[in-house]
Amino acid sequence: MSATSYATIDRSRLAELTAREETHLNAETKGSGRMFERAQKSLSSGVASSYQLRDPWPIYLERGEGAYVWDVDGNRMIDYHNGFGSMVQGHAHPAITKAVTERISKGTHFAAPTEDAVVVAEELQRRWGLPLWRYVNSGSEATMDAIRIARAHTGRDTIMKIFGSYHGHHDYVMVSIGVPYGQIGDRDNLASLPYGEGIPQSVANMTVPVPFNDIDAMESRILRLIREDRKPACVIMEAAMMNLGVILPEPGYLEAVRELTRQHGILLIVDEVKTGICIAPGGATSKYGLEPDLVTLAKALGGGLPSGAIGGTEEALSTVTNGKVYQVGTYNGNPLVMAAARANLLEVMTADAYAHLDALNEHLLKGCEAVIARYNLPGYAVGIGSKGCVTFSPSKVVDYESFKANQDGEVSDLAWLYNMNRGIFMTPGREEEWTLSITHTLEDCDQFIRVFDEMARDLTS
Ligand SMILES: Cc1ncc(COP(=O)(O)O)c(C=O)c1O
Repeated sequence: MSATSYATIDRSRLAELTAREETHLNAETKGSGRMFERAQKSLSSGVASSYQLRDPWPIYLERGEGAYVWDVDGNRMIDYHNGFGSMVQGHAHPAITKAVTERISKGTHFAAPTEDAVVVAEELQRRWGLPLWRYVNSGSEATMDAIRIARAHTGRDTIMKIFGSYHGHHDYVMVSIGVPYGQIGDRDNLASLPYGEGIPQSVANMTVPVPFNDIDAMESRILRLIREDRKPACVIMEAAMMNLGVILPEPGYLEAVRELTRQHGILLIVDEVKTGICIAPGGATSKYGLEPDLVTLAKALGGGLPSGAIGGTEEALSTVTNGKVYQVGTYNGNPLVMAAARANLLEVMTADAYAHLDALNEHLLKGCEAVIARYNLPGYAVGIGSKGCVTFSPSKVVDYESFKANQDGEVSDLAWLYNMNRGIFMTPGREEEWTLSITHTLEDCDQFIRVFDEMARDLTS
């Protein structure tokens, strides 16, 4: 279908609907408004993390159960946000609740290893086919440590990442994300741009970005870095880009990255913080048949508790094993987290659970595609495992540049408002995707599709 054959979005109609929906949401979330007033007096901007900000106020939640969450105003919503993709098990899953409850009365922290830490590592080993594991407490810690391990292994400082990819909030990787379209620059020579203040340019300069899905650009940049005596220690990337909605790898791309990095002795870190437990038992690594040197996990690993892990080959982790790299942390392998992770992996995220997620997502994606076709909207539905989104773009998005050039952020914002006003708690921001949980049902998916249909009809009528 050519771009010109799509329905034209009337911008004044879009603005009118957006204003109407915002007014409605504000009226329905007055308790959140009051909480915000109070919170600002003690929490900077009233939130625990800047990613929880929203204008005019964030929606403060009270509880969650299964596929549902309740906000402080008592609004019940089907949760498609799921803690930025951490709660693929659904809220308060009985098996995880039981494991945590049993553990809590036996002591919650020793900074000494427990059997659960071994069991979890054995299961991760089985799922990812990587022999050695270590724990951390978040995705940022996982990528930070993995990069240090890669630097130690190779004796090199420079690292390579994908332009626009998010790998956490430490200085090594808060580079070249969130850049306005006009400032992206030359794709063969993308700049190392600190994301926000407080990140030294000298640190950012050690992180070299390249576009996703473009093996030629990666190769030529690596060759140039070699000529400049700055060969990278590692390439860190998500197998499917998950912070621009969902961008899947083009056929052959991941294999080519593996071949290229191997050829040059550059470690490949597959960041599975988002994809890890959510898209297949062994994450993107198993789904795409990858052979990474290191993988990073977090989010859904801990069943709702702060968790993270690094897995690797014996060779890649040799500097940890021989004590040259200090991979440390007081709370690493915390017993409560390990008890939750054990129940999560062994009892909850089973083969049946993944089959259920696949079936739900297929239903949801098909339903969204049908709406897009019915109203001739410029966009498409895309997803994998428990994750997906509607990308409002007349052409396929393959990397950061095409996302920024084509995504209709205003329609994305309107979709978020329609969802929130109709019982669907959706991840905020134009870049996020949905995460289903195993407690979602086909009816829950139908509700999402109905709301999308209503928005599409209102927008095009
Ligand atoms: C791919 C990826 N890596 C790392 C992180 C950082 O994880 P955390 O927020 O737990 O530090 C995120 C967070 O969204 C992520 O999406």
